[in-house]
Amino acid sequence: MEIEFVAASAGVPQKTALARIVFEGEAFDGALAQAVAASRFTGGKGQTLDVLAPQGVQAARLVLVGAGKREAFDALGAEHAGASAYNAVKASGLETLCIETPDGDAGLAARAALGVRLACYRFDKYRTKEPAEKKPSIVRTQVACGDPEGALVAFPPLAALADAVSFTRDLVSEPANVLYPAEFARRVKELERLGLEVEILGEDAMKALGMGSLLGVGQGSVRESQLVVIRWNGADDPSAQPVAFVGKGVCFDTGGISIKPAEGMEDMKWDMGGAGAVAGLMYVLAARKAKVNAVGILGLVENMPDGNAQRPGDVVTSMSGQTIEVINTDAEGRLVLADALWYCQDRFKPKFMVDLATLTGAIIISLGNDYAGCFSNNDELAGNLLDAAGKEGEPLWRLPLPEAYNKQIDSQIADMKNTGGRPAGSITAALFLQKFVNGLPWAHLDIASTAWKKGSTVPTLPEGATGYGVRLLNRMVQEKYEG
Ligand code: BES
Ligand code: MN
Ligand code: ZN
Repeated sequence: MEIEFVAASAGVPQKTALARIVFEGEAFDGALAQAVAASRFTGGKGQTLDVLAPQGVQAARLVLVGAGKREAFDALGAEHAGASAYNAVKASGLETLCIETPDGDAGLAARAALGVRLACYRFDKYRTKEPAEKKPSIVRTQVACGDPEGALVAFPPLAALADAVSFTRDLVSEPANVLYPAEFARRVKELERLGLEVEILGEDAMKALGMGSLLGVGQGSVRESQLVVIRWNGADDPSAQPVAFVGKGVCFDTGGISIKPAEGMEDMKWDMGGAGAVAGLMYVLAARKAKVNAVGILGLVENMPDGNAQRPGDVVTSMSGQTIEVINTDAEGRLVLADALWYCQDRFKPKFMVDLATLTGAIIISLGNDYAGCFSNNDELAGNLLDAAGKEGEPLWRLPLPEAYNKQIDSQIADMKNTGGRPAGSITAALFLQKFVNGLPWAHLDIASTAWKKGSTVPTLPEGATGYGVRLLNRMVQEKYEG
């Protein structure tokens, strides 16, 4: 999508769909007033009204895009309005969208453009027969505003963010026959072009480090497990303590010997959404040259049943030295993160660690499909995450880590077991992870609920991979840990 910022007074080119962002209770004149009166359009958030060949307007069609109350119009509102404008005309056959933003604010104009970039994402590389008339036709968006120069300056970091979210969505959308651990690692290695440093550890290196917990998960797969270490050193002081992010990257989760039912198992191609988000975060930090030192660690495995697969009842020794009785091979994400988290704190001594993981089905039962779950041993870190999540429109809700629930994961024969039964399944998973952070400030985001959208109702989230987490982490780093 080509994005331009133009002056509000600039003429509208031929074959353009014009979108006008309007507020609740706004009055219209002439033919437009008549069109509005003949509809249920009130300017409410998310509403659109399509007017063909509008009188007195030099455009092929005009779409009114409701943005709610004028006083409440903010960055997220501008973003959603831009996305709704795109969605309303994407299949119109027209090639250019021109969005009229309501006032001179350059930042809001740039955010409207971000909304278009996020809304126009598609994963269509394997569709060889889609008829042209079914494909979106809009290839160019002009955002008209009072301060186009200002918008042009405000946009690059947002464009970097849109690129990063698309990178994550691509990873998450890829089928598991294409995106297995080594291929995931290779795609991340390519990000060295942005100035990132990427190290890839294979199974021999992980064995030498004692990562029996992670390696046990990948043991039944013909694909080699990988641990990817991504570094961005953007702080003025190169020795400044880094911030760290760790992602669950189960490229496919069959459940292993504790195999999952067939129905819906195809969803488990996106069980690497946490690692995908961490990769996307590192992408945007590098692309916008963030003034921070950051580390991203991806634990990449495939969880398969096999003659060599790990069995229920097996005991593995993690890099931390703690032993784990594997009750259910389908609770594999925590086994991967146990070693990735320990490795991260041991090697980098970061300020804090945030892990992202499509960890439990139970988080969907708790929170539904809009909110991700946040667990943390540190109120300041949790507060920063929740604050950033609100500002970026990536809903997040904190859940407790009650010490007493640890007894659900006590084992008779090892230091712990990897499942705690049905009650509070997301919490016991988080308590398990907490045993591998060595007391560091840490937060765990369970994104099983938000990594993938079926039947999306958010204009910036097309159905499928969302890229959840990239935006909120980028915002948190930008506001709290840079400079
Ligand atoms: N990858 C799944 C969790 C998941 C479920 C992600 C639905 C996305 C959508 C995870 O590895 C898993 O299988 N968790 C089990 C844990 C149980 C065996 C303790 C679960 O949630 O059922
Ligand atoms: Mn599983
Ligand atoms: Zn899983």
